[in-house]
Amino acid sequence: MKKFLIAYFTKTNSTKEYAQYIKEQLQSEELNVDVVDLLSVKNLHNYDAVIIGAPIYGMRWNEECVNFIKANQIELKKVPTFYFFVSYVYENGRKMWRKMILKSMDKVSKLVKPNFIGKFNGRIEKRMPRFIEFMFGIKKETPLNLMNYDKVDEFVNIIKETLK
Ligand SMILES: Cc1cc2nc3c(=O)[nH]c(=O)nc-3n(C[C@H](O)[C@H](O)[C@H](O)COP(=O)(O)O)c2cc1C
Repeated sequence: MKKFLIAYFTKTNSTKEYAQYIKEQLQSEELNVDVVDLLSVKNLHNYDAVIIGAPIYGMRWNEECVNFIKANQIELKKVPTFYFFVSYVYENGRKMWRKMILKSMDKVSKLVKPNFIGKFNGRIEKRMPRFIEFMFGIKKETPLNLMNYDKVDEFVNIIKETLK
C-alpha cells in the first residue's frame, strides 16, 4: 500500500482544513494518507509522495514551512512533492502582491522543485483596516471567507494523474 504525507502549517486552521479535505479526496484502499502538523513530522522515510501546505503571511510562504523544506531537502528530492499555499490576497489583491507571493514560491522551488503548486484562497477573521485593504487592493465588499474547494479538487486530480 502506498503512503502519502500531507504536512501543513497553520495559524487559524484554514490550511489544516484544506489538508484534511485533500486527505479525504486521496484516501482509498490502495493509498494511506497521513496529515501531520509539519512541526511534528519526525521523518519522511516511509512516504511515496509528500504534500506540503502553508499560508501566506507578509506576502511570503510561511517561514516554518520553508525551514521544513530546507531541513528535509535530501529526502524530499527522492519523492514527488506537491506544495500548496493559502492566501487572502493572491487572487483578490493587486498584481504586485501576486508577483511577490510567486517570487517567494520560486525561492522554495529552487530548494526542492515540486511537481505542482496549488494556489488556494484563504479566509480572515475580521476586516482589515481600510487603508490596508486599499494597499492590498482588496475591495470593500470582499467576503471574509474566500475558501473554495474547486481548485483543491483540481490539485487532487493533478496529484492522482501524476502518480498514476
Ligand atoms: C496577520 C495576518 C497577516 C496576513 N498576511 C497576508 C499576506 O501578506 N498575504 C496574503 O495573501 N494573506 C495574508 N493573510 C491572510 C492569510 O493568508 C489567510 O488568513 C489564511 O487563510 C491563513 O491560513 P491559516 O488559517 O492556515 O493560518 C494574513 C492574515 C493575517 C491574520
